[in-house]
Amino acid sequence: MSPVFTVDQHLTDVLESFDEAANPRLTKVLRSLVAHLHAFVVETGLTREEWMSGIEFLTATGHKCDDRRQEFILLSDTLGVSMLVEMVNQDSSDGATEATVLGPFYVPGAPERAMGESIAPEGSNGVEIVISGVVRTAGGEPLSDATLDVWQVTPEGLYDVQDPAIEPMSHRGVFRTGDDGRFQVRSTVPVDYQIPTDGPVGKMLRATGRLSWRPAHTHFMVSRPGYKTVITHVFDAASPHLGADAVFGVRDSLVVDFSTGETGFDFVLDPI
Ligand code: BEZ
Ligand code: FE
Repeated sequence: MSPVFTVDQHLTDVLESFDEAANPRLTKVLRSLVAHLHAFVVETGLTREEWMSGIEFLTATGHKCDDRRQEFILLSDTLGVSMLVEMVNQDSSDGATEATVLGPFYVPGAPERAMGESIAPEGSNGVEIVISGVVRTAGGEPLSDATLDVWQVTPEGLYDVQDPAIEPMSHRGVFRTGDDGRFQVRSTVPVDYQIPTDGPVGKMLRATGRLSWRPAHTHFMVSRPGYKTVITHVFDAASPHLGADAVFGVRDSLVVDFSTGETGFDFVLDPI
């Protein structure tokens, strides 16, 4: 017997329920989200048990979040949504530095550091590295007074916020360019590391035979008044995981050579 009330009529009812929202953008986003969700349920023939598993998965994801751990960002990253949002919002010129994911381990308020100072604490393991270059426009004009918020994992492959034994703000620092737009950051060579797998996202990766590695990288958030902030990484060309980043964040233009201990990289910002 064919149903009297079809799934199409049901979808229309739900879509129309958003028509009175005062915010037209909210209506548009919710209508699209609901339409795709309904299509997903129909296309997969989703069972009640599978829908409940999905709800339990999202509930567990929420329970895993606190002020140090953001499992929803990790989920968005590993489903490729964070990188897709970057791509959809990329409004920079061809010559500008490519953006990649922010990730869940950015911490605002890192200490201001002098030109050439190390973000690694005294006595840190790991091989020393200097990353230097110019913050500039696509036309080559150097940008003074730009800030570079830099963070990376320790040589042991953990962010400071992942382990209370690590000194807070280790491997983090904010640098400022001089009049010539130059910056110099000292650190340790970044290492490949695994994203946290002790929560629902790890369960999803294991269930699907996926790897949890991120290729070695140093994070940069580069800002200057009047210019678009770029959030990006520089990746180590020697990493064996460049081709299989768990969060799909690698871009060829961001891969650099860390092998000599001195790495050059210019950040190119677009005006607002
Ligand atoms: C990171 O690079 O810090 C990162 C990005 C996405 C997920 C986990 C970690
Ligand atoms: Fe990272």
